[in-house]
Amino acid sequence: MPTATEPLPGTSDLWEPEVCDWVMLENTARDIFGRYGFSELRVPVFERTDVFVKSMGDETDVVQKEMYTFEDRGGRSLTLRPEGTAGVIRAIANRGLSQGEEQRVFYMGPMFRGERPAAGRKRQFHQIGVEAVGSLDPVTDAECIAMFVHYLDAIGIEGSRVQINTRGVAEDRKEVADALCNYFRPVLDAMCEDCQRRLDTNIWRILDCKNEACQEKVAGAPRITDLISAESRAYFDAVCSCLDQIGVDYEVAPTLVRGLDYYVHTVFEVKHSGLGAQDALAGGGRYRIVPPGGKKVLEGVGFATGMERLLMARESLGHKAGEPAGADVFLVSLGQDAVIPGLALAQSIRRAFEQLRVRADFTARSMKAQMRTANKLNARVTIIRGGDELAKGTIVCKNMATSEQMEIPESDVNAWLRANL
Ligand code: HAM
Repeated sequence: MPTATEPLPGTSDLWEPEVCDWVMLENTARDIFGRYGFSELRVPVFERTDVFVKSMGDETDVVQKEMYTFEDRGGRSLTLRPEGTAGVIRAIANRGLSQGEEQRVFYMGPMFRGERPAAGRKRQFHQIGVEAVGSLDPVTDAECIAMFVHYLDAIGIEGSRVQINTRGVAEDRKEVADALCNYFRPVLDAMCEDCQRRLDTNIWRILDCKNEACQEKVAGAPRITDLISAESRAYFDAVCSCLDQIGVDYEVAPTLVRGLDYYVHTVFEVKHSGLGAQDALAGGGRYRIVPPGGKKVLEGVGFATGMERLLMARESLGHKAGEPAGADVFLVSLGQDAVIPGLALAQSIRRAFEQLRVRADFTARSMKAQMRTANKLNARVTIIRGGDELAKGTIVCKNMATSEQMEIPESDVNAWLRANL
């Protein structure tokens, strides 16, 4: 049981310096996805429950067991978003999308699933996702995958594996389901309870069951790619061929089906060995979703990546979890009279050098105590000023790496910093 001040299981307080890494992930996503023509969309954290149920499918694990659903005072059923795609589609339908138009958006923020907390599995987790809605061609599927690989490079994650598969389209489903049913029904007794239920409710999910006994049976199951129509197969081949031509490494994973019902054609996951049991860094694919109240299906392709898992993968590769916030310049003010001039000087340095992190000590403690703080913050330069310097209009600048220090007129501070940083 958490204490009264601890966050609930599966949730976290995020403090500096960890927060610096989160901001880096977000800013890099804005930069890279922006360069592919995606713009940011912020949708509400809760929606009417049917926004999620209708798009994700009522037989999916998320809808069946994991949603945080509650009634508001008006008796409406609302749900904290377990993922981003359904809300994005609702928002795009609300704004309207004309025939042939493509809307490219990215989003980031907290998602909520009532799963059993484990390493890399939280109840409030954070996704960065993209959706290219209105795009109908396989090239966009490949571009999305390539963009995620580009993003991983930019944030220093090497060694990930892209796995892709196809689910075909709705018209292929019966053929696939019948073939899987014929194969699994005679061996069902040897499979887990979930799979026994899935045979009638969601047979596709048997393919990606993690249970060892089930996996043995799955290994001999007919392949989706052999059961879908020639058109669906051609679509999948086009995605693969495009990835080959632009040099993105991937493997075809015949049992990858993904846990949400809205997918058609391409599905993909990106795995990383540094993650342990929850090894998916990202998941996505092409989908067709009927927005709430609408008749017109919206089709798109996208993916979402879990920020907690990105950070775990970075850590496994030796990236330190959050460099300390630190300071480039630290101002030591000796004696109460020097405190306000110290603040004023810090302000003027911050305005003169946008990129510098400047901290000042306002406690008028001993020189030794203030220097200790400067060291803790890894300050590159300290500026020291007491009553004598104040009277002369000077400051003492110390380069912390070389320990060299010199007294200069206060008015020369910017030139000195430029030369020494
Ligand atoms: P998803 O596979 O459910 O797909 O989630 C995407 C990613 O979110 C996962 O690969 C994982 O990194 C992270 N994630 C999911 N659940 C948790 C959790 N409980 N704790 C920590 N991280 C988690 C979707 O959400 C789809 N909306 C992706 C998509 C976008 N498909 C098309 N467009």
